[in-house]
Amino acid sequence: MTKPNIAIIIGSTRQSRFADKPANWLLEKAQQRDDMTFELVDLRDFDLPLFDEVASNAWVPSSDPRAVAWQKKVGEFDGYIFVTAEYNHSISGSLKNALDQAYTEWNRKPMAALGYGGVGAARAVEHLRGIGIELQMVPLRNAVHLGGGEFFKTSPIGQNAEMAEVEQVLAPSLNAMLDELAWWAKATMTARAA
Ligand SMILES: Cc1cc2nc3c(=O)[nH]c(=O)nc-3n(C[C@H](O)[C@H](O)[C@H](O)COP(=O)(O)O)c2cc1C
Repeated sequence: MTKPNIAIIIGSTRQSRFADKPANWLLEKAQQRDDMTFELVDLRDFDLPLFDEVASNAWVPSSDPRAVAWQKKVGEFDGYIFVTAEYNHSISGSLKNALDQAYTEWNRKPMAALGYGGVGAARAVEHLRGIGIELQMVPLRNAVHLGGGEFFKTSPIGQNAEMAEVEQVLAPSLNAMLDELAWWAKATMTARAA
């Protein structure tokens, strides 16, 4: 079996976003494993319009070429890790819009999350899991939460320290998440192939 190919999706698109710091750290750590391959997917690169199709692509093929290009990209992967901020206790509008603009491509694949914010984006990650269920995904129990003192240490609104300074705190949840992701990615790949 080929190794599961996992997208690390950056869920914030604003120019001054913090997201790059945890996303690049996550990519570097994940790539130390040899049981999955990883690629950073930046929503900024897809220039998605606000959803403007006649229906979800579960029912009607999308007409906007940007939505179609996004769906093609999503379809390349066997699982996903969303790097998500928390905006007013949920995920960003740009991430929700991107989730809405694909359907079949998400189906029957696992989704994990690295959340960051005051409480590690716990509320946003919980919303993300609910969205994933409607997209027929497998939302994972384990997630990485960069929150509290660790968030303020690494955020530019705090000390702007390197991720290396907090990675000891994050390592157990990171390993648990990646182990669980590998299990479900392999299981769902096998099941989809059958
Ligand atoms: C519109 C908006 C709403 C926010 N709401 C929350 C929130 O509910 N909880 C939280 O922990 N942080 C919240 N924050 C602070 C973010 O955690 C912080 O700005 C973070 O850097 C955002 O991620 P980004 O820089 O990658 O976009 C909010 C920020 C913005 C811009």
